[in-house]
Amino acid sequence: MNDEIKKGLLGIVVDETTVSQVMPDINSLTYRGYAVQDLCEKCIFEEVAYLILNGELPNKKQLKKFIKNERSERNLSKQILNDIKKMPKTAHPMDVIRTAVSLMSLEDKDVRDNSPTANMKKAIRIFAKTPAALSAYFRTRKGKKIINPKKKLTFSENFFYMCFGKVPSRDIVKAFDVSLILYAEHSFNVSTFTARTITSSLSDIHGAITGAIASLKGPLHGGANEEVMYMMNKIKKPNNAFKWINKALDKKEVVMGFGHRVYKKGDSRVPTMEKYFKKVAKVKADKKFIKIYDIVKNVMVKRKNIHPNVDYPTGPTYHLMGFDTDFFTPIFVMSRITGWSAHIMEQHAANKLIRPLSKYSGESHRKVMLLNQR
Ligand code: COA
Repeated sequence: MNDEIKKGLLGIVVDETTVSQVMPDINSLTYRGYAVQDLCEKCIFEEVAYLILNGELPNKKQLKKFIKNERSERNLSKQILNDIKKMPKTAHPMDVIRTAVSLMSLEDKDVRDNSPTANMKKAIRIFAKTPAALSAYFRTRKGKKIINPKKKLTFSENFFYMCFGKVPSRDIVKAFDVSLILYAEHSFNVSTFTARTITSSLSDIHGAITGAIASLKGPLHGGANEEVMYMMNKIKKPNNAFKWINKALDKKEVVMGFGHRVYKKGDSRVPTMEKYFKKVAKVKADKKFIKIYDIVKNVMVKRKNIHPNVDYPTGPTYHLMGFDTDFFTPIFVMSRITGWSAHIMEQHAANKLIRPLSKYSGESHRKVMLLNQR
């Protein structure tokens, strides 16, 4: 038996997948064989969600049916809405959304059925209801009335509508849609691997997604987009940025939104998201965040040769769109539910219990002394 330890499963290939491919050498990411950049320019998020879940891009009829299905599943039960209203205003929205998905399982009539058909139905329900749960908390914690979903709006438009009561300009909606496409899937990252690990015991999709949300929350994973914004707020103005980032590096601090386990020469998603961040900044007539963004990035690349990951441009983009900082990672959840669900279904289709080994480094074998002898 090879007992070499690969901490963090570094460089270990644990299974096959047909969902996405990360190719760091050529700085490329494909979903089901399509480059994400291409998908961002030619598709709306719902088409990409369909692709990830079903393996092929939809034709008009398939898309219409998928959209109809998603829109018909958007409403939350009164019970869940009441539960959300009662949640503490100080809670982190990631914990709220993790709890909301868990609550959805209590009401789902297919909860005990792990067949491919039932799993697809449950995936679409979780996908459709999560934005409603998130926007309900967005509003109730501000003391505002919950806004019900609107069937005539797209996934992205509807989320803005449920949060703010109106749909912003096309440029803003497109930038949001692009961010969701870029966040939708990324092979065996930690939250996806968590979802697959939970599934491997033949547990259900609600449990696997609940666990994946907990995993995504961490600042080394999805939580980084929030941390980027906290960092930018600490920097305050472009004039401070150069000194701030150099000082952070002198102190050997980890700078959020930079670095990646797989990409070492740059994240394939960044150029596209950066383009849309700059578009949003233009619409919002913002120069401050763009300037801070460029200064910090230039120092990181020059001094450390560490490149930004996708969380670096999404952070300030969501801020300029008007979302509270602690809602950034839950927005990531709304999108990644598609990728997690595809992996959960793939794991179910060719399951093998995930159970690695460990090397014991504790006390050697010893005798139990009776209580009065210790
Ligand atoms: N800021 C400063 N230094 C960084 C860094 C960052 N964001 N990311 C990596 N490094 C440095 C490490 O300190 C380490 O330096 P050392 O060799 O002198 O010790 C070296 O680069 C290798 O980093 P390591 O942590 O071993 O890489 P990893 O593959 O285990 O980690 C991340 C990848 C994502 C966990 C790491 O880059 C990170 O913590 N980034 C910030 C969080 C983030 O943005 N996460 C979102 C990822 S999409």
